[in-house]
Amino acid sequence: MRFDILTIFPDLLVSPLREGIIRRAIDDGKVEIATHNIRDFAQGRHAVTDDRPFGGGEGMVMKPEPIAAALAHVEHEAPGGLVVLLTPQGRAFDQAMAERFAGLAHLVLVCGRYEGVDERVRAHLVHEEVSIGDYILTGGELAALVLVDAVTRLLPGVLGHPDSAPRDTFSWGGLKYPQYTRPRVFNNEAVPEVLLNGDHAAIAEWRLVAAVRQTMERRPELLGRIRFLPTEERILKKHGLGAALGRAAAPGGD
Ligand code: ADE
Repeated sequence: MRFDILTIFPDLLVSPLREGIIRRAIDDGKVEIATHNIRDFAQGRHAVTDDRPFGGGEGMVMKPEPIAAALAHVEHEAPGGLVVLLTPQGRAFDQAMAERFAGLAHLVLVCGRYEGVDERVRAHLVHEEVSIGDYILTGGELAALVLVDAVTRLLPGVLGHPDSAPRDTFSWGGLKYPQYTRPRVFNNEAVPEVLLNGDHAAIAEWRLVAAVRQTMERRPELLGRIRFLPTEERILKKHGLGAALGRAAAPGGD
């Protein structure tokens, strides 16, 4: 998969892409990430990328022409990418969107800055607008990195264990079960006994119950969308968690 990232601060993207799983995915050729400085596509001696808003008001607006020229350059280098603008006005990024993007060959991410991007960029040059949450960042760069990270780890062969991703928080619809490692006792709290005895069915049952409990406590609104298997339903009822099923089975629950 290929990512092209358009930004006026390409240095912001350097170190997060140089570490850990993302770096290995790049080194292994699973993913190719090219960054482009929008300023390189700006006209004139001062290579201006922003200007005052028509109609007055605070702050600066990113000009359309440098972004258009940078997008034309990417399209010439590697045609056919889906162009995504990172903006707080976009659709909320979630695991389902990450999975959809992971099925594409090429994403072009445009990072906005300042008070926004000229509306004609949004209207004419961008296919989708994406927000990573209901808060305002100083620009789209961190949002682009979040998207690259969440998508890259879903690509085939990127995570060490082939089925690490499907057991994650969110990919099953709820939160992940708690994890423990050595030491067995820490701060007077012992690791749950069931995790130590190698009984895989009992461990799977404990993890299902713990994940559902955690989801009920912290993110109950997620439960309505989860479809449990009949075997899971039996386990949850046995542990008095029928309420989780009630929500899932409620008419119009999704
Ligand atoms: N740019 C500024 N804030 C943002 C957000 N929450 N998501 C995506 N891009 C942004």
